[in-house]
Amino acid sequence: MPRCFPEPYKIKMVEPLQVTTKEYRQRCLEEAGYNTFLLASKDVFIDLLTDSGTSAMSDVQWAGLMRGDEAYAGSRNFYNLCEAVQEVLGYAHVVPTHQGRGAEHLFFQNFLRAGDVVPMNMYFTTTRQHAELAGGLFQDVIVDEAHDPASRFPWKGNVDLEKLRALVAKYGADRVRMVSVAPNVNMAGGQPCSMANLKELRSYCKQNGIRIFMDITRIAENAHFIKEREEGYAQWSIKDIVREICAHSDGAWMSAKKDGLVNIGGFLAFHKGQEDLFEQCRSMVVVYEGLHTYGGMAGRDMEALAIGLREVCQADYLAARVGQVRFLHELLDEEKVPLVHPCGGHGVFLNAREFLPHLDQDQYPAQMLAAQIYAEGGVRSMERGNVSAGRDPETGQNRRPRLELVRLTIPRRVYTQTHMEYTAESVIDVFRRREKVPGLAFAYEPAMLRFFQAQFAPIPQE
Ligand code: F0G
Repeated sequence: MPRCFPEPYKIKMVEPLQVTTKEYRQRCLEEAGYNTFLLASKDVFIDLLTDSGTSAMSDVQWAGLMRGDEAYAGSRNFYNLCEAVQEVLGYAHVVPTHQGRGAEHLFFQNFLRAGDVVPMNMYFTTTRQHAELAGGLFQDVIVDEAHDPASRFPWKGNVDLEKLRALVAKYGADRVRMVSVAPNVNMAGGQPCSMANLKELRSYCKQNGIRIFMDITRIAENAHFIKEREEGYAQWSIKDIVREICAHSDGAWMSAKKDGLVNIGGFLAFHKGQEDLFEQCRSMVVVYEGLHTYGGMAGRDMEALAIGLREVCQADYLAARVGQVRFLHELLDEEKVPLVHPCGGHGVFLNAREFLPHLDQDQYPAQMLAAQIYAEGGVRSMERGNVSAGRDPETGQNRRPRLELVRLTIPRRVYTQTHMEYTAESVIDVFRRREKVPGLAFAYEPAMLRFFQAQFAPIPQE
């Protein structure tokens, strides 16, 4: 029996859930074209689609909503947010946005020049799309271990400096003007970067005039792993680790819907010395998001975020948060369900290639596995494989990434231990009948970020 994870909070309000039958769910699945993004939330029992915007806020955050100052310009909540960003992350300048991809859009449009190479530690869907829309050429510089679900390497988020050096040698330093680093890599399974790696990267980039911009969407979870695993950090506070991570960058963007512990919001932030870029982004924010003192967020949302940024750095919260994810991971591992190891920060990732070895990757095994888990128990998860990776813009072929995963993403402070046990049972029930699961073919394929709206049909079995 895996160790439990006592939550340092209790329940004050409940939201009832609808229990449905397998037959009903099968009909829902067919109507949704086997895409879990197209299911109605009312038809889902346990929603592990994403940890994005799904957090439960604390009573202090709800009280903060009542202190919303909805002035068009200069809301007091904006200044509170800037103070929290400065205190927790150490950045001097903030441009608020409606969510993470709004920040990515402003950043890449203002920083990139057509033809620039954009090295990242793996990719995130919207980040890569915005880099490409701004004329950038994405290049993956994550360590090889990150592409191997079985590798137990503790720092699968690390940047491989040899890969970066090779890019600089190939394209020249004038085309590699930045590196984008995500501390805690979503697509690799919620895997952290070590502080040692960030330091080494910073020193290499300084020597070569390359700027570092971070995607700090799940930075507190990365800080938790550093505190737990990296020598010398056990006695540090999470806040100090978080600031130290940010100190190795020139600026960052955040989807506050994750480690901001809020339901909507995001921002760009810059250290001193980046005033030119900050001013360019601040001038563009008014075109796409809103005035530079709200950027698409309501005053009350900025207040909740200012509070959330501080709450997420509480060590006992993070221990329970990551402990809950690990609990589910251990339940599935005990039954030999193929998983990404080690367990990450925000979810449990199933290795669909091994789960459904009889399917070719172009029959979208992870897409079908997510569909089957929904039909089985009403648990909604998400494909993170060939469908999410999309097509190569040059060849038009599926990218066929090495990782073909289903993500069971755990919302923060929302579900209980029993919900984790029920989820494990649903996955294990599909595992027992895995040989009979057919593949999928596209019925409708959108041109951009296809995984959100695509529809599929099962391939008839002989
Ligand atoms: N960066 C990372 C690492 C993300 O995980 C996300 C969103 C974004 C940027 C974009 O932020 O959604 O606020 O516009 N991830 C969600 C997910 C959608 O389910 O993983 P956004």
